[in-house]
Amino acid sequence: MINIAIDGPSGAGKSTSARAAAKELGFIYVDTGALYRAVGVAALKRGIATADAKAVADMLPSLKIALRFEAGEQKVYLNGEDVSKTIRLPEASMAASDVSAVPAVRAFLFDLQKTLARENDCIMDGRDIGTVVLPEAQLKIFLTASAEERANRRYNELISRGTPVEYEALLSEIVQRDYNDSHRAIAPLKPAPDAVILDSSDMGFEEVVAEIVRLVKETVPDEA
Ligand code: DC
Repeated sequence: MINIAIDGPSGAGKSTSARAAAKELGFIYVDTGALYRAVGVAALKRGIATADAKAVADMLPSLKIALRFEAGEQKVYLNGEDVSKTIRLPEASMAASDVSAVPAVRAFLFDLQKTLARENDCIMDGRDIGTVVLPEAQLKIFLTASAEERANRRYNELISRGTPVEYEALLSEIVQRDYNDSHRAIAPLKPAPDAVILDSSDMGFEEVVAEIVRLVKETVPDEA
């Protein structure tokens, strides 16, 4: 199987570009952030403090999280319920960041990610895919962009959807999440030593997708 790891901070455009590149290559696209978001949502639903590592770990045995691919789109199920929309709510982002620092949560989601990669040609995106989950991936990409550019993109996206937001608030949330994700003791966000660093600050969406596809074809010329 061909396994491509894409890691990087939130808002760098990983999910949109990885999804488009996977489509072009005929691979499945696995968004692992959705798994952490599902655990975060489970805690919120049960009134469990997401920063309480023990309470979060104790909740895990009662959770069944599954990814299903419907018409190429990833859907996330939590104990049989489709939570694909709920996990995108703003409160789910911070909850996901909190629970992702709990070692038991990472262990809980590890096998699911491994199985998906073993069974499918895939582009898997996350924070620790190249470093921890798929260190054997044929290609690892670390997709990044400046915090200001990421806040800018998010601002334009929300404003165009008619959601009033303040740029400064978005920027400080991004800086806070970057800090959380890259300073946690377990599986911190960092490029694998052999990752290709792709800085998308001055690149358009199409350009990023084309570069990912080019890197994949260059790495596995016969199969992609
Ligand atoms: O990519 P995202 O914003 O949906 O990720 C949600 C949170 O989950 C984010 O704070 C980082 C965390 N995460 C992680 O720790 N490891 C992954 N492989 C994917 C996401």
